[in-house]
Amino acid sequence: MDKCANEGDLRNNSYVLMIPNERLKMSEYYSKNLSSNLLKQCYEIAPKRVQQYLISETNYVVEFIDDSDSVLELGCGYGRVLKILSPHSSEVIGIDTSRESLELAFEYTKNNPRCHLLQASAEMLPFLENSIDKVVCIQNGISAFKVDPKELIQESIRVTKTGGVCIFSSYSPKFWKHRLDWFQMQADADLIGEIDFEKTKDGIIVCKDGFKATTYTSDDFDYLVRQLDVDAQIIEIDESSVFCIINVEK
Ligand SMILES: C[S@@+](CC[C@H](N)C(=O)[O-])C[C@H]1O[C@@H](n2cnc3c(N)ncnc32)[C@H](O)[C@@H]1O
Repeated sequence: MDKCANEGDLRNNSYVLMIPNERLKMSEYYSKNLSSNLLKQCYEIAPKRVQQYLISETNYVVEFIDDSDSVLELGCGYGRVLKILSPHSSEVIGIDTSRESLELAFEYTKNNPRCHLLQASAEMLPFLENSIDKVVCIQNGISAFKVDPKELIQESIRVTKTGGVCIFSSYSPKFWKHRLDWFQMQADADLIGEIDFEKTKDGIIVCKDGFKATTYTSDDFDYLVRQLDVDAQIIEIDESSVFCIINVEK
């Protein structure tokens, strides 16, 4: 495969420092079971209220982005968010552990010279310190990546320029019913395993095939940012997302 990196950069990405393949800690479930077109289908089958949530989430992110910004999305999947953010910034960079998803992202963002893709893990970003204006980790990436959330935030702050912003989002507890309905639709479409309703509750969705999604509540984000002693705002929007916005000061 000559299009997606990690043996080389993708589309002349000048930010990239390469890390060896074996040091990439793959997120097993997404890479093996839910990548590329399967991941895309999850979003395509989303019911109306979930579509509204997804639009509200990216609209909110756009408010933080300036035309001159470089934007890094952690866990970019097939490029859904990159495509939305690209017209609002000077360049977008997407990283993901799934090579298959990055291949689709390459097609999905085709002919966009301001979009760069790279295979990497969010916990060890192959970028220089102070090199990115805005780091975006939405769609509950902080749960999906299965990495230490403190390390994820610290690594995001490391690559962000002073005066830049790191943006994280998870689900609002108010959105639980809609979220669960959507995941049931994904299970019905065989995109994820059968939901284990004995274990699924209180913001945690467990499937019988090993899929598990948790939630970062306002209190969880608050606890994290206090521990890290960073300047942050935590805000709920649309009764669907909880955002943690970190203002990077070094
Ligand atoms: C829920 S999907 C979201 C995709 C995309 N952000 C979107 O909203 O369309 C989570 C993505 O995170 C990726 N991922 C999982 N673990 C990761 C990690 N440690 N570092 C970077 N990406 C990871 C998965 O491969 C998957 O594409």
